Amino acid sequence: MGHLFNRNIIVGVSGGIAAYKSAELVRLLRKAGARVKVIMTRGATEFITPLTLQALSGEAVHTELLDEAAEAGMGHIELARWADALLIAPATADVLARLVAGRADDLLCTVALATPAPVMVAPAMNQQMWANASTTSNIKTLASRSITIIGPDAGEQACGDIGQGRLLDPELIVTQLAGHFDSQLLAGRRVVITAGPTREALDPVRYLSNHSSGKMGFALARAAREAGANVTLISGPVNLPTPENVDRIDVISALEMYAVAEKEAAHADLFIGAAAIADYRPSDASCQKIKKSDDEISLALTKNPDVIAMVANLEARPKLVVGFAAETESVLEHAQGKLIKKNLNFVIANDVSRGDIGFNSDSNCVSVVDRSGLTDLPIGSKQLISQQLLEIFAPHLT
Ligand code: PMT
Repeated sequence: MGHLFNRNIIVGVSGGIAAYKSAELVRLLRKAGARVKVIMTRGATEFITPLTLQALSGEAVHTELLDEAAEAGMGHIELARWADALLIAPATADVLARLVAGRADDLLCTVALATPAPVMVAPAMNQQMWANASTTSNIKTLASRSITIIGPDAGEQACGDIGQGRLLDPELIVTQLAGHFDSQLLAGRRVVITAGPTREALDPVRYLSNHSSGKMGFALARAAREAGANVTLISGPVNLPTPENVDRIDVISALEMYAVAEKEAAHADLFIGAAAIADYRPSDASCQKIKKSDDEISLALTKNPDVIAMVANLEARPKLVVGFAAETESVLEHAQGKLIKKNLNFVIANDVSRGDIGFNSDSNCVSVVDRSGLTDLPIGSKQLISQQLLEIFAPHLT
């Protein structure tokens, strides 16, 4: 169940008798390592208390769209952006109809509208309600909008009827949710990703570096692995665990990253440069600690070689070479310049002057630039954005 580890899952609970099963669902998700936040409709609170789900999720449960306390800390937009997936279980006939209509008059439906994350619904209702033409049509509409329908199951119902409409067993719901993160989009492909900062030594105790945490590159590595690729992650000094089944090579300096990338890129189908590689290094790193003496000292810097430009111009060039552009102004203009200058297939532009995205944040907001134009992705978790980016790249690898 590694696919759910550290994944941000919102569980939406609506008001039907199966709401009590959401307790087991939340427990299983947490057991699988997911971070879980629960949204309950008013009806759901009639069947199970928020306190139960709060205890099981380890997080405050969200019930109100216009809750002053919640708005101050985690409003509906923040919740929507936090999610890697929104799972509504149980989804009543009423919630399905409200999703179809695009209603935004309660927290659950509003978050479903506002989230860039995939939405999944596990319907639960009386068999006659499930068979009703309105429900059938609503399910068809939701599926056509890429909402995943999980279940329902058939069998004896709480009302005594027998038929289809029971909430699927929570264990099976969790398995289907995990399966969503296990696409085979990049099956058999070799992907090399750089991540994190580099450190350029001034002396044995000091270095020049930047604020990169490695989160973006590590999220890409995880997503590529989950898409079935063989992944090598070349990482600068970061404090992150290696994603499962990813080969990691640690480096310190830009020159080291260059040497490793040159070797690894030769076998890659896709190379992604998410690392924030220092453009310059001290020209003469001192062998001994530089002593404090003069009020002012000067530092001579030498330009580092460009890793991604080298990869993009290799004789055995990977089919796709993707760079990032970390900018603080004229973001798109600079990204377009880098696309051409470095001979890249895509540049992922992000504004690193913002505190809520970019360096060290769990979220990002990027524009994908290629020679045919521009695609903006909405703000979302770095994990979700990584999946979306790979979905854009995959068709270009065939
Ligand atoms: O690590 P996080 O905290 O999650 O932050 C993510 C990020 C902001 C670092 C990431 O999203 C990002 O923007 N990475 C690229 C940072 C960068 O160095 O951008 P740049 O515009 O300076 O460089 C453009 C491209 O050239 C990048 O793909 C970079 O990896 C590459 N480059 C730069 C210099 C160099 N000497 N060699 C290179 O290959």
